[in-house]
Amino acid sequence: MDNRPIGIFDSGLGGLSAVKAVLELLPNEDIIYFGDTARVPYGSRSNETIEKFAKEDIEFLQQFGCKLIMAACGTVSSVATKATSEIKEPFIGVVKPASKAAARATRNNVIGVMGTAATINSGSYVKEIAKINPDAQVLGVSCPLLVTLVENNWIDEDNYIAREIIKRYISPLTEQGADTIILGCTHFPHLAPIIQSVAGDDVVLIDTGLEAAREAKQILQQADMENSADNKAAAHYYVSDKTQNFSAIAKTLLGKDISGEITFKNIDERL
Ligand code: DGL
Repeated sequence: MDNRPIGIFDSGLGGLSAVKAVLELLPNEDIIYFGDTARVPYGSRSNETIEKFAKEDIEFLQQFGCKLIMAACGTVSSVATKATSEIKEPFIGVVKPASKAAARATRNNVIGVMGTAATINSGSYVKEIAKINPDAQVLGVSCPLLVTLVENNWIDEDNYIAREIIKRYISPLTEQGADTIILGCTHFPHLAPIIQSVAGDDVVLIDTGLEAAREAKQILQQADMENSADNKAAAHYYVSDKTQNFSAIAKTLLGKDISGEITFKNIDERL
């Protein structure tokens, strides 16, 4: 039994897709979330900047004595290999668990990856999937506009503009026969219903936050580090820019009001 919290971070609010999965799969765990809303997006930045931001985000979470740290951010998981490899706590990024799930799910060995420019350029999924299934063909597409759609809450299923943008992004994947698509960015699970309807019902979508949450559950179970069943689990959210936007969008993404649980954190200052 271990009653320390799980630390989850992302470049912004998209990581709430991972929080949602952790809340469902690990309902007794306390969560500390950090969303770097002042510096989002990470996905269009240089590798050096992403490493620096990731290191600062990790150091912030480490001050809470987390028992496990999760990078919900696809960009950090793909690019910040130095910062994440130096973490002393058990660490989970999204690339490994999502690659495993995609390799299991594909029936024709053609896997698509939707991500930020940094994620796609890093080749992280190509490398990881090749280790598991060298025969798989991995096709990447960078989808920066989808981040903006989610940040602005344009995620309703009948949103015409979202649908048209998604069609344009994923047609190279479906035209080349991808039967499995990794939603390789925190924000994309929030658009899953539209992506599924554009891609077709036969295409399996892999939710990276959900796969990371499954992995977290396994790690905690195996190490006997779960919190006790009678813990009144609490989540607290820190953001590096104003809390109001986060609170409004979190309501849609998590389906509940978390406004009392959000604190502004200037990432340039210590706790
Ligand atoms: N959180 C980022 C990711 O999952 C998307 C937003 C950004 O570019 O920072 O890749």
